Amino acid sequence: MKNITTNLKKLLYLWRRSQVPIKEPTRISKIDNLIIFLICILISIISSYKLLVISPLNISVIFSWICNFTEALISSGILILVSKKENPTISSRQIIFIITLLLAVQASKLALVSNISPLSLIIPPALIISQGMGSITALAWVSIASLIWPDPAVTIDNNLFFILLVCSSVVSLLGARIRNRAQLLQLSIFVPIGSFLSQWILIGKDKISLVDKQEFLFANGDIFSDSLLLAIVMLFTILFIPIFESIFGLLTKARLLELADKEKPLIRRLSLEAPGTFEHTLLICGLAEEATRMIGGDIDLIKTGALYHDVGKLHAPNWFIENQDGSKNPHDEIDDPVKSAEVLQAHVDEGLKYARKNRLPKPIANFIPEHQGTLKMGYFFHKAKEKNIKINENDFRYNGPVPQSKETAVLMLADGCEAALRAMNINASDKEALETISKIIYSRQKDGQLDDSNLSKGEIFLIKRAFLNVWKRIRHRRIQYPTTKNNTFS
Ligand SMILES: [Fe+2]
Ligand SMILES: [Fe+2]
Repeated sequence: MKNITTNLKKLLYLWRRSQVPIKEPTRISKIDNLIIFLICILISIISSYKLLVISPLNISVIFSWICNFTEALISSGILILVSKKENPTISSRQIIFIITLLLAVQASKLALVSNISPLSLIIPPALIISQGMGSITALAWVSIASLIWPDPAVTIDNNLFFILLVCSSVVSLLGARIRNRAQLLQLSIFVPIGSFLSQWILIGKDKISLVDKQEFLFANGDIFSDSLLLAIVMLFTILFIPIFESIFGLLTKARLLELADKEKPLIRRLSLEAPGTFEHTLLICGLAEEATRMIGGDIDLIKTGALYHDVGKLHAPNWFIENQDGSKNPHDEIDDPVKSAEVLQAHVDEGLKYARKNRLPKPIANFIPEHQGTLKMGYFFHKAKEKNIKINENDFRYNGPVPQSKETAVLMLADGCEAALRAMNINASDKEALETISKIIYSRQKDGQLDDSNLSKGEIFLIKRAFLNVWKRIRHRRIQYPTTKNNTFS
């Protein structure tokens, strides 16, 4: 009976956990909601009004208009839901961006579709969306943009529609994985070549007039000029991606890698003003990268997030032990555990200020508070207890939130294990290192720090193995190699 009750309690707990959203959903203001709704209405009007114009009004025409209008409205809603599901922290600016692209494409289709190939209208936006929001959002956008056709009088060749779907799906899937601008350039050359060849095979060789001087850009149906126009529009899109990144806060892989450049002013400052923190950051990058690779997370995101996680320590570098270098510890001088705890919390608050000042994208800024979660500042808490100060435990805990993603949770674990692994004896065995890692990770788990991160038990096991592998690398590096007697190097 006791077993049944325990199991029921466990099931109830699991059910309740499954109802809790993994990440805090984005709060969208009323004005933004209104703007989004108005854009969706505009999309629906553009997608359906031609039905009312082309034939005399009767009940069946009005009925099909209502159907088309509702279809477009629901499709726009589904697109927003899909984008929110893939990017729980998506901002209202980004939602407005996606649906404005849909609106622009609907309007362009209406104005230009008889003159311009649908390939050039749908594939370039799919590239931007896949780069900034991920492939699922891009695929949803492509299907909705292809299916809602504003002009019922214009029908697209079935083969062309098929090529459009294949090319845009390829762009949506590859776009999210591309890691630098050179690969983007390759995509913008190979996709038009692919579309040209497939149109040549499926639609016909007779539709090539090479360059038809005057009608070149708008010679719809001419597969050579259509493909060349697609290449040109894609190249222009690549040129404009950095502008979209900064205006709409898109986080592309190329932007992540740019931010991870150690020559960035904030990182240079960290290396000069807080060298100990910088070294700690580099070690954490190694630990977190290896663990994220093991669990199949976003390596570029965690590498960049790890680099910026402790930038807040720049506000008072010498208050953190790694930068003290044997000099006096200011915490000993003030001898006030409550004030010391405030200084520790300030490295999170100041870090968020640096992130805002340096326009770091939100997913990177999230690493700053989430790597500390609501951890207890154990050392100062016990010191306060020893001094018999009237204390509230919460005053000695970071403000949080606890890690909301697997990546920020991995960083918290790497942050916890780094100092212990660094301090470990060079002759320690793998078993001892694994025990230390497990102890630290278990304490975080027990404290509820990993509750919202969605890390499974299997993934936590893999993270431990990854940390152990990095520890082995560190140990190997620390073994001094014997040099030859006359100090010659080969
Ligand atoms: Fe920290
Ligand atoms: Fe740290």
